[in-house]
Amino acid sequence: MSANSSQPIRVALAGCGTVGTGVLRILVQRGDELYARSGLRFEVAAILERDPTRPRGVAVPHARFVRAPDELDELLVDGSVDVLVEVLGGTDAARHVALAALEKGLPVVTANKALIAIHGRELFDVARRHGTCVAFEASCAGGVPVVAAIQRGLIATRINAVYGIVNGTCNYVLTEMLEKNRSYAEALGEAQRLGYAEADPTLDVDGTDSAHKLAILALLALGADLDVGAIDVEGIQSIHQADLAIARTLGYACKLLAIGLRTDAGLSLRVHPALVPLDHPLARTRGVTAAAVFLGDAMDQLVLSGSGAGSLPTAGAVVSDLVEVACGNARRDFERLPIFREPNRAPPFVPAGDMEYRYYLRCFVDREPNAAAITNILASARVDVDTRTRPDADSVVLITRRVREDDLRAAVAEVRKLVPEPPPVVLRFVEPNGE
Ligand code: NAP
Ligand code: HSE
Repeated sequence: MSANSSQPIRVALAGCGTVGTGVLRILVQRGDELYARSGLRFEVAAILERDPTRPRGVAVPHARFVRAPDELDELLVDGSVDVLVEVLGGTDAARHVALAALEKGLPVVTANKALIAIHGRELFDVARRHGTCVAFEASCAGGVPVVAAIQRGLIATRINAVYGIVNGTCNYVLTEMLEKNRSYAEALGEAQRLGYAEADPTLDVDGTDSAHKLAILALLALGADLDVGAIDVEGIQSIHQADLAIARTLGYACKLLAIGLRTDAGLSLRVHPALVPLDHPLARTRGVTAAAVFLGDAMDQLVLSGSGAGSLPTAGAVVSDLVEVACGNARRDFERLPIFREPNRAPPFVPAGDMEYRYYLRCFVDREPNAAAITNILASARVDVDTRTRPDADSVVLITRRVREDDLRAAVAEVRKLVPEPPPVVLRFVEPNGE
């Protein structure tokens, strides 16, 4: 599809929740401003939504509402729309409508990282066969234009690491817990109310959403296979307020990081809570802000940060893709960039257990003999302890030297024989080079 300036581009909007409503607001209420900046007019011709009566605060007089994906199929086939925006979430109905559009030769714009991370290869293949494209800027870090940065500004750079905070909900929760002393449940409830969280917020807090985003970033930046299963994932559910506070006294901030790293042995992809020095840009990334750090051969560090979630920032990224699609740029990128054409000769993945880190371990012991016994267990498991402190009467914090992940895991299994519950809190220190 390429824009004909006299005709508005007719959009089918699948999903009209947090992001969909933002897209409506931009296209309907800021249509003139968008026209002034892009020379393009968009008309929302169809909306797929289970409950069309839900108040949205935006009038869409020309839109036809449909309630089920099958009904939308008919509109995609009968020539009444030019492009599909998929912001339903999930993968079943989303895949269904995306495939229906692509098979009709219509471009698809999506904010849905699960869809791209899990079904991206299939969608790219169908798009290519039907001479159209898939655009997904909003999928990786909300309103932060990381996809465009990789595909354009960094196209000549060999990216060796991409890592950062890609889930706004988790960063919001951790920030609220530390700075406002809010409970985990209270902070998560607020993130849901503000429209940051996924429909099922477990996907945010257990690290799955970050893993979906990392799979996409690693495909684009590191030439990885699109394979969420290759990512080692931990969430933030077992982080306590005390750990955030202790980390700060040690000179670190605790953040949920998604990390993609090129190593001599292959690619290491992982998502886990990590301790970063307080003077690092990620430590200063607070609230719903997301931030991605790129390290490349021809440049120092590039940090992109901004609103990682929320209605308008994400909708802004969706609409930027709509403009790229309408100008024909998205289709050209799709044809030009090999990553969309074929599973490339991707480097192998490095097993998580082979990586080495310094670790923070907080074990829950109220008796000094047990604290001493834990230190001995670690020593016999080849885990060197650098410092040992007792932040309170009920726990001991051990900071290790660099050790292999497998050795650390074996040591923790031994510790749990002595103190089965609660399990120790285990955090990795991440260095500024992403290791
Ligand atoms: P949302 O608020 O839950 O909106 C999704 C809308 O689609 C809801 O109104 C839902 O209706 C409707 N829907 C879902 N499945 C449907 C079906 N089979 N038939 C008809 N209607 C259906 O979700 P969102 O926050 O806008 O997120 C949408 C997508 O954008 C997700 O993939 C998400 O990961 C991504 N995203 C979100 C953000 C953010 O800040 N929220 C940022 C970046 C990317 P019901 O409510 O009735 O289920
Ligand atoms: N739930 C996601 C987040 C939405 O909090 O980051 C943005 O992708």
